[in-house]
Amino acid sequence: MLDKVCVKRRYITSVIGVACYFVSGMALASQQAAFAMPDKYSAKVTKSVLTSGGNAVDAAVAAGFVLAVTYPEAGNIGGGGFMTLFNASAENTRDRALFLDYREKAPKAAFKTLYLDKNRDVIPYRSLVGYQASGVPGTVKGLWMAHQRFGSMPWSDLLQPAIQYAEQGFLVSESLDRTAKWYQKWIAGKSKTPLNFLDYFSDLQKGTLFKQPELARTLQRIAKEGGEEFYQGETARLLVKEMQRYDGLITLKDLQAYQAVWRKPVVGYWQGRQIISAPPPSSGGVAIIQLLKMKALLQPKLDRALQEGKKEGLSEQVIKTHFYAELEKRVYADRAFYLGDPDFVDVPVKELISNSYLSKRTQTVLLDAISESEKIKYGKIETPETTHFSIMDSQGNAVSNTYTLNMPFGSGVVVRGAGFLMNNEMDDFSTKPGVANIFGVVGGKANEIVPEKRMLSSMSPTIILKDGKVEMVVGTPGGSTIITSVFQTVVNVIEEGMTAQEAVDATRVHHQLLPKDQISYNPELSDDTKTALQLMGYQLKKNSYMGDVQVVVQQRGGISAASDKRGRGVSEVFKVQIKDALN
Ligand code: GLY
Repeated sequence: MLDKVCVKRRYITSVIGVACYFVSGMALASQQAAFAMPDKYSAKVTKSVLTSGGNAVDAAVAAGFVLAVTYPEAGNIGGGGFMTLFNASAENTRDRALFLDYREKAPKAAFKTLYLDKNRDVIPYRSLVGYQASGVPGTVKGLWMAHQRFGSMPWSDLLQPAIQYAEQGFLVSESLDRTAKWYQKWIAGKSKTPLNFLDYFSDLQKGTLFKQPELARTLQRIAKEGGEEFYQGETARLLVKEMQRYDGLITLKDLQAYQAVWRKPVVGYWQGRQIISAPPPSSGGVAIIQLLKMKALLQPKLDRALQEGKKEGLSEQVIKTHFYAELEKRVYADRAFYLGDPDFVDVPVKELISNSYLSKRTQTVLLDAISESEKIKYGKIETPETTHFSIMDSQGNAVSNTYTLNMPFGSGVVVRGAGFLMNNEMDDFSTKPGVANIFGVVGGKANEIVPEKRMLSSMSPTIILKDGKVEMVVGTPGGSTIITSVFQTVVNVIEEGMTAQEAVDATRVHHQLLPKDQISYNPELSDDTKTALQLMGYQLKKNSYMGDVQVVVQQRGGISAASDKRGRGVSEVFKVQIKDALN
């Protein structure tokens, strides 16, 4: 039903509800739909669209714009992202899984040593804060292209809820207030040019109504004139004017040339299922499939270690945490070496997820000691703020969407007159080989800065199919921890048999090769687990933020949906009335 013709026109009448005008005499049946959204406003709008006959893409478009208003730390029109889709009605099964890349691009004026000083040292924070930190935004083009291909409700109607929240305001949550205060402190003194973040966001106070009139006008223009307005119209003009105020690199030519791209998703076969996930320029899909397949290859060895551990009084958590760290070391070494924008570098995706390559990679995994980080190279032949939502409509279509400004509130630069924040995605390039970015991950040639190239990402919107139908829609924010959070959530549901809520709330652990032998965790590990891991030689670090997983899953004969307790998300499974065959 990602089908433009079968839906009768319906009208969104307000933020709070969508009125449906059914054709008289139409017989109705009901089917389940579900979502897991990062806040209550996007949840409300998603439900309105789906119950009014809109499909998963309609709901994603409406929610994507609402989050740009109500979740300003990550929801955006000044950033970019990825959308993994399942189109249940495509005739050819090969065409059912789709991927839309609307990641930001380096401006044409960017160059390899942009963030290095004359001694070739990295200039602190230049790729993170201020005018030079932004890539050319892709979000509006991405939502526009998804809608052009699959939308069934009018574009303009789908933007109305966002416009209303921007005009009339929304109630600020405690976590938004906290993040904004943290960000204000964090950016202080880090930019050589003035930032106007506080001119726009100092009123973000818990429990108060927050209005964004300039953003409302921008969204009105985009609603009226279509997605191209952002790249060619008044919004483009305002964006370029803002860049020219100081040392920004983005020009009108950059905006006019920007294209989102339909790519083939990366597909891995695991446990009788198809894992459909984000291909390069994301490292996420490759990494998640590598982790799942290596785990499967080593399962007998892991089972033996668990039995031995039981005899010695070692908890499962200790053994699994160490085991995951061993797998993750190898995956992040591959990420650093091989992964980059496929329009600029050849990424050997097929080889990296092949059984033969991964069998070799698993040969050196140690179950009883830490493999030396220095010896883990790429195999032969790589507070993070982003936001994710998962939607399944009543016809079995699904959208898994992750989009971002990179850090919370991006670069700290707001486009004056247009009211939206710019991303600081340029930091996801490798600014200097071997020098870690804000997430502590390193990169090399494959991810060096080139004009119009897309920076490497870890965003991993994922859909899992079983017997050709959607079994799971999953994703999360969390920078480099996205990969390990999605991996553990999939394992929690499919192998450990947890409910959706248990799976997203469970403690997660993360290791990414560097810092050496460091495992981060959230929320807690038991004291015994910590002691045992420390005795093995690990450094443990509590990560105050480790994702906000949103999952919809078919399990136990029904659909479940769950939003991570770490965030402010809302999930729901509900019935939608649909036309019966007579109509
Ligand atoms: N900016 C975080 C990511 O794309 O992985």
